[in-house]
Amino acid sequence: MIDTLQIKITKNSNSRLAETEFKDIPFGKIFTDHMFVADFEDGEWKNFEILPYGPIPMSPAISALHYGQAIFEGMKAYRLPSGEISIFRADKNFERFNISADRMAMPTIPEEIFMQGIATLINMDRDWVPTQENYALYLRPVMFATDDSLGVRASSNYKFVVLASPTGPYYTKALKVKIETKYTRANEGGVGYAKTAGNYARSLYPFAQAQKEGFDQLIWTDSATHSFVEESGAANVMFVLDGKLITAAVGETILNGVTRDTIIALAKDKGITVEERKVTVAEIIAGAKNGTLTEAFAVGTAATVTQIGEIGYEGELYQLSDSSTRTISTGIAKELNEIRNGLAADKFGWNWIV
Ligand code: PLP
Ligand code: COI
Repeated sequence: MIDTLQIKITKNSNSRLAETEFKDIPFGKIFTDHMFVADFEDGEWKNFEILPYGPIPMSPAISALHYGQAIFEGMKAYRLPSGEISIFRADKNFERFNISADRMAMPTIPEEIFMQGIATLINMDRDWVPTQENYALYLRPVMFATDDSLGVRASSNYKFVVLASPTGPYYTKALKVKIETKYTRANEGGVGYAKTAGNYARSLYPFAQAQKEGFDQLIWTDSATHSFVEESGAANVMFVLDGKLITAAVGETILNGVTRDTIIALAKDKGITVEERKVTVAEIIAGAKNGTLTEAFAVGTAATVTQIGEIGYEGELYQLSDSSTRTISTGIAKELNEIRNGLAADKFGWNWIV
């Protein structure tokens, strides 16, 4: 990696590491001692800094707050048996960050700033990378518009920040999910393929409604007909139907998940037939009824591989197979964990040692 960025470093003299309880750590609530910050001003990226994690002073007029120009990424760093720290497929997150930036009329960020900012932050906060199984250091790069101006137009100024948060599994049990047929996460011509704040904001109300009905999560369907499965919550969704691994093909309305791509590669490597195509609600429900749907699971950086135990659709609840019988998804999840944690050969070159 090129090491050319001049980063000003201010060390946190009040580390919270010693008093942090790493057991049963909740997702995204604890942050490491430092953060990486950069500014986009006068058409260029500047002011590269590592600072103690904490509040960032800003005007209440910043356009991110009013008009939502905000994008983010999520990736994880793992501690390998050698003691080295590896970030899983950060190149894919970097690519997607700039795809999101483009769509939201924000400046793209050079690879050097993204990667070196993250690597420097990790090196400052190395001791925060958890050692327990299924735990990792979650990395959250975010960029938001900082013009203090109420005109509706793309901002001229932006801030890029990277936060790091030690974390365990997002979900700890198989989910009861509802196939959503009223609200949508994304639509053609929209921003579903971008990892932008508004996609999450619009999902909160339908999610809360589903929770009131006793569901843990939603399966999103297409906005035009509600007859095609798209994603599940903040994760992609996969099924094993008739022994084949099927998932929605990525497109305008679906986030091109790194975990999704990884699982497809591992499945193909194992000789499993993978179909990336339009997935109909009808075939999933038929498979749940006749037993050909043997596995259903959500995949994402935070979610990792989370089993779906029950599917609700149009007032009916379909009970899926017991998680212990799901050899395809659990086999792939095991291999994925072993690769990420340095316990199996990294044959695809996914681990980036920082
Ligand atoms: N879909 C949405 C809407 C997400 O927020 C995420 C999480 O990042 C994913 C899918 C899964 O993507 P990845 O595997 O890159 O984390
Ligand atoms: C991730 O998996 O990184 C996500 O972005 C999901 C998150 C919104 C909880």
